[in-house]
Amino acid sequence: TLASILRHGAAVCALAVAAALPAAAKDFRIAVGDGAGGTQEALGRAFIAALEKQTGGAHTAKLFLNGQLGDEQDTVTAAATGTLDFSILAINNITPFSPTVGVLTMPYVIMSQQDAETLTQGEIGQSLVDRTIEDAGVRILGWGYSGFRVLTNSKRPVQTPEDLKGLVIRVPKNEIMIETYKAWGVDPTPMAWSETFAALQQGVVDGQDNPYMTIHAMNFDEVQKHVTNIRSIFSIEPLVVSEQLFQSLSPEEQQQLVAAGKEATQASSAFLKAEEARIRDELAARGMQIADPADGEAQFIELATGKVWPRFTDSIGGKEVLDRALAALGRPAT
Ligand code: MLT
Repeated sequence: TLASILRHGAAVCALAVAAALPAAAKDFRIAVGDGAGGTQEALGRAFIAALEKQTGGAHTAKLFLNGQLGDEQDTVTAAATGTLDFSILAINNITPFSPTVGVLTMPYVIMSQQDAETLTQGEIGQSLVDRTIEDAGVRILGWGYSGFRVLTNSKRPVQTPEDLKGLVIRVPKNEIMIETYKAWGVDPTPMAWSETFAALQQGVVDGQDNPYMTIHAMNFDEVQKHVTNIRSIFSIEPLVVSEQLFQSLSPEEQQQLVAAGKEATQASSAFLKAEEARIRDELAARGMQIADPADGEAQFIELATGKVWPRFTDSIGGKEVLDRALAALGRPAT
């Protein structure tokens, strides 16, 4: 009948209009573990700018700094279950949910920013993204680069593993990092990131390790005096999106998110190069005493690689995975 033709026509028209309209504007929430002024905030800001550009201003996002939306490890669970959209956190706080990313926190595998970029931006990085989706329910969209995690403490200069004895050191709840300190002869205190500043301030722990950028963003110089330039872990701070959220988006929106993540990665690389030395000098000017480890770090390196690599090779996916990473960095196989 004419009526049914008209009804059908109207429905077709409505569909056509819906398809042509931009997706409803979205204002995502991004959890950020650190305070303002560090790598995580810079990565987040670069991502938001790129997202707004990619979507012609349709979608945006807000950063919630300083663990306001939960401790870093808890944000992984929240994003996986879809109660949180995005999180920016240290890679070591994803490892408990997806052990293969442990290759990025194996001590002394990554020896420069270039190494960090080679592992994260190439084929190996893509396989880590895939595994993290499967294991942890979050998709790494962008990689933040934060520099080496240097060792800080409130008590005394440390230049050898021997000097560490008797100090209470906070570590993330990450088996590889716990065992690294054990290899150096101390029994560290695993603790959530969100509790670390207070624990340092109250003297519950004497020290911790994190990059200069993070020490600065967290004002750790107020409660820590001595710095040792160890290079066991180059800190990588990814931006992850809830995979549930990602799968609910249109293919076009998914592409926009991926492209924005790539732009944010490039911005983070430039940010670290531009800022790290200045931040280190500022911390020194505020009174932090910075020292290099003795003997070119030989003892730290030997103990950590000798004890930690064999122990965690299986958890990161086996000898081939570690050797593939080392080969990508031009280093000999194990
Ligand atoms: C940690 O030590 O738990 C993290 O590396 C902190 C951070 O995200 O900056």
